[in-house]
Amino acid sequence: MRLDVVTLFPEYLEPLHLSLVGKARARGQLGVHVHDLRQWAYDKHHTVDDTPYGGGPGMVMKTEPWGEALDEVIATGYEHGAAEPVLVVPTPSGRPFTQELAVALSARPWLIFTPARYEGIDRRVTEEYAARLPVCEVSIGDYVLAGGEAAVLVITEAVARLLPGVLGNAESHRDDSFAPGAMANLLEGPVYTKPPEWRGRGIPEVLLSGHHGRIARWRRDEALRRTAVHRPELIERCEATAFDKKDRET
Ligand code: ADE
Repeated sequence: MRLDVVTLFPEYLEPLHLSLVGKARARGQLGVHVHDLRQWAYDKHHTVDDTPYGGGPGMVMKTEPWGEALDEVIATGYEHGAAEPVLVVPTPSGRPFTQELAVALSARPWLIFTPARYEGIDRRVTEEYAARLPVCEVSIGDYVLAGGEAAVLVITEAVARLLPGVLGNAESHRDDSFAPGAMANLLEGPVYTKPPEWRGRGIPEVLLSGHHGRIARWRRDEALRRTAVHRPELIERCEATAFDKKDRET
Protein backbone atom coordinates (compact mmCIF):
# COMPACT_ATOMS: atom_id res chain seq x y z
CA MET A 1 0.00 0.00 0.00
CA ARG A 2 1.14 3.55 -0.77
CA LEU A 3 0.32 6.51 1.50
CA ASP A 4 0.88 10.18 0.73
CA VAL A 5 0.28 12.92 3.29
CA VAL A 6 0.29 16.62 2.36
CA THR A 7 0.62 18.75 5.50
CA LEU A 8 1.86 22.02 6.96
CA PHE A 9 3.54 20.01 9.73
CA PRO A 10 5.56 17.13 8.24
CA GLU A 11 7.21 16.51 11.66
CA TYR A 12 3.77 15.70 13.06
CA LEU A 13 3.84 12.50 11.00
CA GLU A 14 7.21 11.33 12.43
CA PRO A 15 5.48 8.65 14.56
CA LEU A 16 4.78 6.85 11.27
CA HIS A 17 8.42 5.68 11.54
CA LEU A 18 7.66 3.86 14.82
CA SER A 19 6.16 0.61 15.96
CA LEU A 20 3.84 -1.37 13.70
CA VAL A 21 3.63 1.21 10.89
CA GLY A 22 7.41 1.77 10.98
CA LYS A 23 8.04 -1.98 10.76
CA ALA A 24 5.58 -2.35 7.87
CA ARG A 25 7.51 0.42 6.08
CA ALA A 26 10.86 -1.26 6.78
CA ARG A 27 9.50 -4.55 5.40
CA GLY A 28 8.27 -2.79 2.25
CA GLN A 29 4.57 -3.53 2.96
CA LEU A 30 3.81 0.18 3.19
CA GLY A 31 5.35 3.18 1.40
CA VAL A 32 4.74 6.48 3.25
CA HIS A 33 5.48 9.82 1.55
CA VAL A 34 5.04 13.00 3.61
CA HIS A 35 5.02 16.36 1.76
CA ASP A 36 5.19 19.94 3.04
CA LEU A 37 2.27 21.92 1.57
CA ARG A 38 4.32 25.14 1.66
CA GLN A 39 6.46 23.71 -1.15
CA TRP A 40 3.52 24.56 -3.42
CA ALA A 41 2.94 28.13 -2.08
CA TYR A 42 5.03 30.35 -4.32
CA ASP A 43 4.75 33.86 -2.79
CA LYS A 44 7.45 35.27 -0.52
CA HIS A 45 5.69 34.15 2.67
CA HIS A 46 4.53 30.76 1.31
CA THR A 47 0.95 31.75 2.12
CA VAL A 48 -1.52 28.86 2.35
CA ASP A 49 -4.53 30.57 3.94
CA ASP A 50 -6.77 33.60 3.52
CA THR A 51 -9.86 35.18 5.10
CA PRO A 52 -13.22 33.43 4.56
CA TYR A 53 -15.72 34.73 2.00
CA GLY A 54 -18.84 35.84 3.84
CA GLY A 55 -16.80 36.91 6.86
CA GLY A 56 -16.42 35.18 10.18
CA PRO A 57 -13.51 34.15 12.37
CA GLY A 58 -10.44 32.16 11.36
CA MET A 59 -8.76 31.49 8.04
CA VAL A 60 -9.49 29.11 5.15
CA MET A 61 -6.84 27.10 3.31
CA LYS A 62 -6.40 28.33 -0.25
CA THR A 63 -7.24 26.38 -3.40
CA GLU A 64 -4.00 26.97 -5.34
CA PRO A 65 -1.39 25.32 -3.05
CA TRP A 66 -3.65 22.28 -2.52
CA GLY A 67 -4.36 21.97 -6.24
CA GLU A 68 -0.67 22.18 -7.20
CA ALA A 69 0.31 19.77 -4.42
CA LEU A 70 -2.33 17.16 -5.21
CA ASP A 71 -1.72 17.30 -8.98
CA GLU A 72 1.97 16.62 -8.40
CA VAL A 73 1.49 13.95 -5.72
CA ILE A 74 -1.06 12.13 -7.89
CA ALA A 75 1.14 12.33 -11.01
CA THR A 76 4.19 11.05 -9.08
CA GLY A 77 2.26 8.12 -7.64
CA TYR A 78 0.97 7.09 -11.07
CA GLU A 79 4.53 7.42 -12.48
CA HIS A 80 5.61 4.92 -9.82
CA GLY A 81 2.93 2.50 -10.98
CA ALA A 82 0.35 3.03 -8.21
CA ALA A 83 -3.30 2.19 -9.01
CA GLU A 84 -6.17 4.64 -8.43
CA PRO A 85 -5.86 6.52 -5.11
CA VAL A 86 -8.55 7.39 -2.58
CA LEU A 87 -8.35 10.96 -1.34
CA VAL A 88 -8.90 10.80 2.43
CA VAL A 89 -9.94 14.19 3.81
CA PRO A 90 -9.94 14.33 7.64
CA THR A 91 -12.62 16.73 8.82
CA PRO A 92 -15.02 16.89 11.78
CA SER A 93 -17.78 17.22 9.15
CA GLY A 94 -16.94 13.86 7.56
CA ARG A 95 -18.49 10.41 7.91
CA PRO A 96 -17.51 8.64 11.14
CA PHE A 97 -14.32 6.59 10.97
CA THR A 98 -15.25 3.02 11.94
CA GLN A 99 -13.61 -0.40 11.86
CA GLU A 100 -15.73 -1.13 8.78
CA LEU A 101 -14.25 1.89 6.99
CA ALA A 102 -10.74 0.88 8.13
CA VAL A 103 -11.31 -2.55 6.55
CA ALA A 104 -12.53 -0.93 3.29
CA LEU A 105 -9.57 1.47 3.13
CA SER A 106 -7.10 -1.35 3.86
CA ALA A 107 -8.20 -3.00 0.60
CA ARG A 108 -7.15 0.04 -1.46
CA PRO A 109 -3.66 0.29 -2.99
CA TRP A 110 -3.11 4.01 -2.38
CA LEU A 111 -4.42 6.62 0.08
CA ILE A 112 -3.70 10.35 -0.15
CA PHE A 113 -4.39 12.32 3.06
CA THR A 114 -5.09 16.07 3.15
CA PRO A 115 -5.02 17.10 6.83
CA ALA A 116 -6.18 20.72 7.17
CA ARG A 117 -5.42 23.45 9.70
CA TYR A 118 -7.44 26.59 10.47
CA GLU A 119 -11.13 26.47 9.46
CA GLY A 120 -10.55 23.87 6.75
CA ILE A 121 -9.84 23.80 3.00
CA ASP A 122 -11.74 25.82 0.36
CA ARG A 123 -14.60 23.52 -0.68
CA ARG A 124 -13.69 23.70 -4.36
CA VAL A 125 -10.60 21.53 -3.75
CA THR A 126 -12.65 18.55 -2.55
CA GLU A 127 -15.14 19.07 -5.41
CA GLU A 128 -12.36 19.26 -8.01
CA TYR A 129 -10.81 15.93 -6.98
CA ALA A 130 -14.14 14.22 -6.31
CA ALA A 131 -14.82 14.70 -10.03
CA ARG A 132 -11.92 12.36 -10.86
CA LEU A 133 -11.20 10.21 -7.79
CA PRO A 134 -12.97 8.51 -4.91
CA VAL A 135 -12.95 11.01 -2.06
CA CYS A 136 -13.64 10.04 1.54
CA GLU A 137 -14.28 12.81 4.08
CA VAL A 138 -13.70 11.24 7.49
CA SER A 139 -14.19 12.30 11.11
CA ILE A 140 -12.45 10.39 13.89
CA GLY A 141 -14.94 11.58 16.51
CA ASP A 142 -17.37 14.24 17.63
CA TYR A 143 -14.79 16.77 18.74
CA VAL A 144 -12.69 19.34 16.89
CA LEU A 145 -8.91 18.93 16.67
CA ALA A 146 -6.53 21.79 15.92
CA GLY A 147 -5.69 20.02 12.65
CA GLY A 148 -6.18 16.78 10.73
CA GLU A 149 -2.69 15.36 11.33
CA ALA A 150 -3.66 13.45 14.50
CA ALA A 151 -6.59 11.98 12.53
CA VAL A 152 -4.14 10.82 9.83
CA LEU A 153 -2.10 9.00 12.50
CA VAL A 154 -5.24 7.35 13.86
CA ILE A 155 -6.56 6.27 10.46
CA THR A 156 -3.14 5.05 9.27
CA GLU A 157 -2.60 2.91 12.36
CA ALA A 158 -6.07 1.34 12.15
CA VAL A 159 -5.64 0.61 8.43
CA ALA A 160 -2.00 -0.57 8.49
CA ARG A 161 -2.60 -3.26 11.11
CA LEU A 162 -5.18 -4.82 8.79
CA LEU A 163 -2.75 -5.21 5.87
CA PRO A 164 -1.83 -8.84 5.14
CA GLY A 165 1.31 -9.85 7.03
CA VAL A 166 1.56 -6.69 9.15
CA LEU A 167 0.32 -8.23 12.43
CA GLY A 168 2.35 -11.27 13.53
CA ASN A 169 -0.77 -13.35 14.06
CA ALA A 170 -3.28 -13.10 11.20
CA GLU A 171 -6.07 -14.02 13.65
CA SER A 172 -5.28 -11.09 15.95
CA HIS A 173 -7.95 -8.85 14.48
CA ARG A 174 -10.67 -11.49 14.37
CA ASP A 175 -11.72 -10.80 17.98
CA ASP A 176 -11.10 -7.04 17.94
CA SER A 177 -13.82 -4.77 19.23
CA PHE A 178 -16.04 -3.92 16.20
CA ALA A 179 -14.44 -6.58 13.96
CA PRO A 180 -16.91 -7.63 11.25
CA GLY A 181 -18.48 -11.00 12.09
CA ALA A 182 -19.16 -12.25 15.62
CA MET A 183 -17.76 -9.05 17.20
CA ALA A 184 -19.66 -6.58 14.99
CA ASN A 185 -21.12 -3.96 17.35
CA LEU A 186 -19.48 -5.52 20.42
CA LEU A 187 -16.62 -4.26 22.59
CA GLU A 188 -13.88 -6.72 23.44
CA GLY A 189 -13.87 -7.95 27.05
CA PRO A 190 -10.96 -7.95 29.55
CA VAL A 191 -7.68 -9.83 29.00
CA TYR A 192 -5.14 -11.29 31.48
CA THR A 193 -1.59 -12.63 31.45
CA LYS A 194 0.88 -14.11 33.96
CA PRO A 195 1.33 -14.07 36.93
CA PRO A 196 -1.87 -15.89 37.96
CA GLU A 197 -2.06 -13.78 41.13
CA TRP A 198 -1.08 -10.13 41.56
CA ARG A 199 -1.64 -8.10 44.73
CA GLY A 200 -4.19 -10.64 45.86
CA ARG A 201 -6.09 -10.49 42.57
CA GLY A 202 -6.58 -13.71 40.66
CA ILE A 203 -7.87 -14.31 37.17
CA PRO A 204 -11.22 -15.80 36.12
CA GLU A 205 -10.97 -19.59 36.67
CA VAL A 206 -12.49 -20.42 33.32
CA LEU A 207 -9.39 -19.06 31.56
CA LEU A 208 -7.30 -21.78 33.23
CA SER A 209 -9.78 -24.55 32.40
CA GLY A 210 -8.39 -25.33 28.94
CA HIS A 211 -12.04 -25.77 27.87
CA HIS A 212 -12.24 -23.84 24.58
CA GLY A 213 -16.04 -23.82 24.42
CA ARG A 214 -16.43 -22.43 27.94
CA ILE A 215 -13.68 -19.87 27.36
CA ALA A 216 -15.34 -18.67 24.14
CA ARG A 217 -18.70 -18.44 25.96
CA TRP A 218 -17.10 -16.43 28.81
CA ARG A 219 -15.39 -14.05 26.37
CA ARG A 220 -18.65 -13.43 24.55
CA ASP A 221 -20.54 -12.83 27.83
CA GLU A 222 -17.89 -10.33 28.93
CA ALA A 223 -18.10 -8.57 25.54
CA LEU A 224 -21.89 -8.33 25.85
CA ARG A 225 -21.63 -7.09 29.44
CA ARG A 226 -19.01 -4.44 28.63
CA THR A 227 -20.95 -3.25 25.60
CA ALA A 228 -24.17 -2.98 27.64
CA VAL A 229 -22.34 -0.79 30.20
CA HIS A 230 -20.26 1.46 27.94
CA ARG A 231 -22.16 1.49 24.63
CA PRO A 232 -25.78 0.34 25.14
CA GLU A 233 -26.74 1.89 21.79
CA LEU A 234 -24.50 -0.68 20.04
CA ILE A 235 -26.47 -3.59 21.50
CA GLU A 236 -29.69 -2.01 20.25
CA ARG A 237 -28.16 -1.77 16.79
CA CYS A 238 -27.37 -5.52 16.63
CA GLU A 239 -29.62 -7.67 14.47
CA ALA A 240 -31.70 -10.01 16.63
CA THR A 241 -30.10 -12.92 14.75
CA ALA A 242 -26.67 -11.83 16.02
CA PHE A 243 -27.61 -13.19 19.46
CA ASP A 244 -27.97 -16.84 20.36
CA LYS A 245 -30.08 -18.28 23.20
CA LYS A 246 -27.19 -18.17 25.69
CA ASP A 247 -26.50 -14.50 24.82
CA ARG A 248 -30.01 -13.69 25.96
CA GLU A 249 -29.30 -15.24 29.39
CA THR A 250 -26.36 -12.86 29.93
N1 ADE B 1 -9.93 17.74 12.01
C1 ADE B 1 -10.36 18.43 13.08
N2 ADE B 1 -11.16 17.67 13.85
C2 ADE B 1 -11.24 16.45 13.25
C3 ADE B 1 -11.91 15.24 13.55
N3 ADE B 1 -12.70 15.12 14.62
N4 ADE B 1 -11.76 14.21 12.71
C4 ADE B 1 -10.99 14.32 11.62
N5 ADE B 1 -10.33 15.42 11.29
C5 ADE B 1 -10.45 16.50 12.08
